[in-house]
Amino acid sequence: MKDYSHLISARIFSNRSKEQTISTPQKKAFSKKAGLGWSLMLFLALLLFLLASRYLTLNPDVYFPEQKGVYIANTTFLLMHIIGSMLAILIGPFQFLPKIRTGRLLNLHRWLGRIYLLGILIGGTGGLYMAQLAYGGIVTRLGFTTLALLWLVSGGMAYKTIRNKQLEIHRKWMTVNYALTFAGVTLRLWQVIFGISGLDFLTGYLIVSWLCWAPNLLVAFWINSRDNSV
Ligand code: HEM
Repeated sequence: MKDYSHLISARIFSNRSKEQTISTPQKKAFSKKAGLGWSLMLFLALLLFLLASRYLTLNPDVYFPEQKGVYIANTTFLLMHIIGSMLAILIGPFQFLPKIRTGRLLNLHRWLGRIYLLGILIGGTGGLYMAQLAYGGIVTRLGFTTLALLWLVSGGMAYKTIRNKQLEIHRKWMTVNYALTFAGVTLRLWQVIFGISGLDFLTGYLIVSWLCWAPNLLVAFWINSRDNSV
C-alpha cells in the first residue's frame, strides 16, 4: 500500500517545514514569556498527575461517583488509560525544553519520547475504550472518542515523522499531540468554571467533552503557524 502520511503532514503544516530534516539547527532558548507559559503548563500538568494518582489506590471511594460501577467493572481499561495518560502528561513539558533537544541530553529526549509515545498508545487505547462507556451518553461518547482517535493518530504521526528524520514536522505533531494530552487539564479547569457558574453537572459535562480539546487543537495550530512565520 502506498504511504501518503507525508502528504497529510504537508497539508496540515507548512511546506517550509516539510523540507527540514534532522540536520535543522535547534531553536534558541525560551524567551521570558515562553518560560512563564512553560512553568504554568508544568504546574498544571503536575496537579493533574497528582489528582489522577488517587486512582492507583484502586479504592472505589475516590472514583468519579456517577461512574463508580462502570469503573469497577472495567478496571483494567481504566488503569491502562490513567497510567498511560499520567506518563504522557508528566513527560510532555520536558520534551519542549530547547536544551533537552541538543547535545548530551538528546539521548534523554529520545528515551523520554519513546516512553511518552508508549503512554499515548496505552492511555489512548484505554481512553478509546472508556469513551464508549462515558457518563452523559452519545454526546460525551462521541466527544471523547474523537479526542482519543486524534490523540492516537497525532502520536502515530509524531513517531512516523521522527523515524523519517523530519524534525520540524515531528515537533509540530508533538505540539498537536501534547495540546490534546492537555485536554486532561482543560477538562477539569472548565468543570471548575462551570461549577462556579452554577450550570448543572450533566449539561456542563456534555459541553466539556468537546470544549476540553477543540480549543486546545486551535491553539496548537496557531503555535505551529507562528513557527512558520519566524
Ligand atoms: C487526551 C486524551 C484523553 C482521553 C480521550 C480521555 C478519555 C477519558 C474517558 C472517556 C474517561 C471516562 C469518563 C467517564 O467515565 O465519563 C476518562 C476518565 C479519566 N481520565 Fe481521561 N482522557 C484523556 C486524557 C487524560 C489525561 C491526560 C489524564 C491524566 C493524566 C486522564 C485521567 C483520567 C482520570 C483520572 C479519569 C477518571 C475520571 C475522573 O476522575 O475524572 N485522562 N478519560
